[in-house]
Amino acid sequence: MNSFTEHELDILNGDRFQFGKNWLSFIKTLNNERIANAEKSLIEFLKTDNLTSKKFIDVGSGSGLFSLAARNLGASVVSFDYDNSSVESTQILKDKYYRDDENWLIMQGSALDNEFLKTLGEFDIVYSWGVLHHTGSMWQAIENVLPLANSKGKIFIALYNDQGPTSAKWLKVKKMYNSGVIGKLFIGSIFYSYFFINLLFYTLKKGKSPFKYLSYYKKNRGMSVFHDWRDWIGGLPFEVASNEKVIDFFVNNGFYLLKIRTNNGLGCNQYVFEKKL
Ligand SMILES: C[S@@+](CC[C@H](N)C(=O)[O-])C[C@H]1O[C@@H](n2cnc3c(N)ncnc32)[C@H](O)[C@@H]1O
Repeated sequence: MNSFTEHELDILNGDRFQFGKNWLSFIKTLNNERIANAEKSLIEFLKTDNLTSKKFIDVGSGSGLFSLAARNLGASVVSFDYDNSSVESTQILKDKYYRDDENWLIMQGSALDNEFLKTLGEFDIVYSWGVLHHTGSMWQAIENVLPLANSKGKIFIALYNDQGPTSAKWLKVKKMYNSGVIGKLFIGSIFYSYFFINLLFYTLKKGKSPFKYLSYYKKNRGMSVFHDWRDWIGGLPFEVASNEKVIDFFVNNGFYLLKIRTNNGLGCNQYVFEKKL
């Protein structure tokens, strides 16, 4: 008899998107320009030129692009993800760029598993971009990653913006997408067309080429529009948070806000917090 992991059961039950499969496809598009843009995003938010001698943990490493970017900037890196295919994707990048490097460790693990987290130690930078709202228990996951920051450690996270009833509607869309092949085809055909037509209108209205937009999009953390659309349409579990609640939570837990970039629509608010001494 087959025995399934919890992760596999969640996917079979339609409760979880196959993030890692999307990342394995994304890394086929990876090039030096995307890697440089990922590095730029870390430099900009962490307000530094490099990460030399910093300890960096990538919680929910996904493709592994930001672990690679942090390693390129001089950090020693620990990456982990819950999805085995995301772990595989991160490992492929390590094998390509940093084979046999002892300063980059990759593991499978969950931000909801406190026993696992306790084995990892403390870090100068805890990076968890677009992850904790996909764990199924967002506030618990946020609380769990706080002890990963050392004294004066920084936590750089991105969480989906709370859009109230609009977020509730998106949750229904994501549930339908993950419900099976028919749901995927139905929701996929509607929303890929919707995003594509929106993109055409938006760019043409501004007198710009849609192709230019696609290439400009790469500058946004080195990501790809199509893979981000798929991640957005499918990304389940899905929770959202308001800036006020997130900031209150961190301040009440001994951190202060260093940087914030808000998003008024779909997508993530980005925050960098630093631990108070
Ligand atoms: C949208 S992706 C973001 C990936 C990457 N951080 C980035 O910025 O490109 C979300 C990732 O979180 C991972 N994830 C979901 N639940 C998790 C958990 N409980 N612990 C660790 N990673 C988790 C998913 O497998 C996926 O790879």
